[in-house]
Amino acid sequence: MDRRIVVTRSVPESALDVLRTAGEVRVCGQDRPLEVAELHEAVRGADAIVSMLHDRVDDAVADAAGPGLRIVANVAVGYDNVDVAALSRRGIAVTNTPGVLVDATADLAFGLLLSVTRRLGEGERLLRARQPWSFHLGFMLGTGLQGKTLGIVGLGEIGQAVARRARAFGMRIAYTGRRRAAAEVETELDARYLAQDDLLRESDVVSLHCPLTEQTRHLIGERALGLMKPSAVLVNTSRGPVVDERALATALHEGRIAGAALDVFEREPAVEPALLELDNVALAPHLGSATIETRTAMAELAARNVAAVLGGNAPVTPVAG
Ligand code: GLV
Ligand code: GLV
Repeated sequence: MDRRIVVTRSVPESALDVLRTAGEVRVCGQDRPLEVAELHEAVRGADAIVSMLHDRVDDAVADAAGPGLRIVANVAVGYDNVDVAALSRRGIAVTNTPGVLVDATADLAFGLLLSVTRRLGEGERLLRARQPWSFHLGFMLGTGLQGKTLGIVGLGEIGQAVARRARAFGMRIAYTGRRRAAAEVETELDARYLAQDDLLRESDVVSLHCPLTEQTRHLIGERALGLMKPSAVLVNTSRGPVVDERALATALHEGRIAGAALDVFEREPAVEPALLELDNVALAPHLGSATIETRTAMAELAARNVAAVLGGNAPVTPVAG
């Protein structure tokens, strides 16, 4: 009997081509995330699920799919939406899409950082509002990055790619994380390892590149924000809940830090309303990996994981569960 592959949201055609070599593919057609009940209904009888980061994939989804479910291929590098422990207990493989989105995400982090330090969004809003303006030496001054310290929380592949860009901008690199990076990485990036509080105290820019886990939820809250310099900028392209959004909005409003660049939000697609009122915040709607090349590569990698597992082989990029 043909294998059943359920894809929760549309994926590029090239990924469907790969999936079709492995079974019968059903793509859920909605132009919005599936509701929980819809997801449970959609996965009935599935051998494989290709999931998106907004799908909560847990025991209940596995129950709804039934005993045939062999793999959940999440089209994202982050997999906080998947209960890996629960699926692993059932012998279901879980895969993500590391590697292929590193450059796109690092580019976006840097773009957003420049957007806030050089006031690009604010300047564009001024033009679009047809406000009068003229060039003068004190007009809309931002701050330079050269010689400043970038503090990276989580020096994994994306954090390293951001650090490389920062080096090209003349920044110094510090990092913190659960463990130290390899010596070659520290040497290449001239990166100093600091305890988290020291990193927060010393950095001019703090950029988050850690996964969302129970340990990192609200890692940046009132206390952490209180340690940062009043001139510091926070960049978040990881997961929204790593930051306490309300505490951040308050700190920005009160000038306790200088700015923030946010691609992700605590309750996506909602954005804390107080943030929308602030000019010292650059905002993007979760676009880190959103290039044609990268999204195609992510979907194809997820499809190859499905094809491997349904073909009786080991997954290509299993998550450590
Ligand atoms: C996107 O946020 C991803 O985790 O790939
Ligand atoms: C600015 O536009 C300059 O020419 O210095």
